[in-house]
Amino acid sequence: MTEIKGRVAGKVALVTGGASGLGLAIAALLVREGATTIITDILDDQGRLEAGKIGAKFKQQDVASEEGWKDVLSEIYQKYGQLDILVNNAGISGSVLGLDPETTPLDEWQKIQKVNGESVFLGCKYAIDYMRKGGGGSIVNLSSIAALVATPFITAYGASKAAVRQLSMSIAMHCATSGSRVRCNTVHPGQIRTPMLENLFAETARQMGVPQNVVEQKFLERIPMGEFGEPNDIAYMVLFLASDEAKHVTGGQFVVDGGMQLNG
Ligand SMILES: NC(=O)c1ccc[n+]([C@@H]2O[C@H](COP(=O)([O-])OP(=O)(O)OC[C@H]3O[C@@H](n4cnc5c(N)ncnc54)[C@H](O)[C@@H]3O)[C@@H](O)[C@H]2O)c1
Repeated sequence: MTEIKGRVAGKVALVTGGASGLGLAIAALLVREGATTIITDILDDQGRLEAGKIGAKFKQQDVASEEGWKDVLSEIYQKYGQLDILVNNAGISGSVLGLDPETTPLDEWQKIQKVNGESVFLGCKYAIDYMRKGGGGSIVNLSSIAALVATPFITAYGASKAAVRQLSMSIAMHCATSGSRVRCNTVHPGQIRTPMLENLFAETARQMGVPQNVVEQKFLERIPMGEFGEPNDIAYMVLFLASDEAKHVTGGQFVVDGGMQLNG
């Protein structure tokens, strides 16, 4: 029998929001490094198509639904008998930009906390026990540098990502001290070229009434390394945290931002 090689060989991974952007790059890398990988997304057709291209499985899931989480996790466990890696990646930037603490409508705030924050709570809440049964696992939650600095122009988004960061520390502590051998870490991307960032450029340009390249240039000026990140910059960080190479790493915050955080 041929031995499967790779940094996560033999593991079973679930990546949410895997139909595009960072989730897709993360899933593709996990597949390449030997993990049986399931991606979920609200986008059914696109999810199926992309999963097929990279050799992953697909299941439709709205991460904001508690019942959805229970179904997805129990289906994976029944089918594969284990869950080793959970990447809580699905997220939204919000339908309206330029919202400060005074102009953010309550329903916008609530929607963003639900999709970006509550979903991560639900995913962790229900995944821990499946991982524990298999002797441990790794949870990687996608936060943002928006969790680490003031973001008065995307108030609700920044707060939702800060919630993910704090929640992940509690999960890491809970799992470490209860003998579950489940680790939990956050990854904090800066500005990575994905459909989410492209939409942000387009919408900001529209609102300011300037060409998109002017907006892109302004964003670029905030990145000391002088370039936007690419999805694999995040995927390699997630791969490390998901693998046994990171077996002593939990409760950490891993910033991948070309030095943006140095701006304060
Ligand atoms: N791109 C960046 O620069 C950047 C920076 C910081 C943090 N992030 C975070 O990284 C993650 C991925 O971002 P991205 O840039 O790849 O975005 P993206 O918009 O390209 O992809 C997000 C995916 O999540 C899915 N999704 C949205 N709501 C969902 C729901 N309720 N249930 C299931 N799936 C849902 C979308 O359909 C999409 O496929 C997000 O959590 C985002 O906040 C991205």
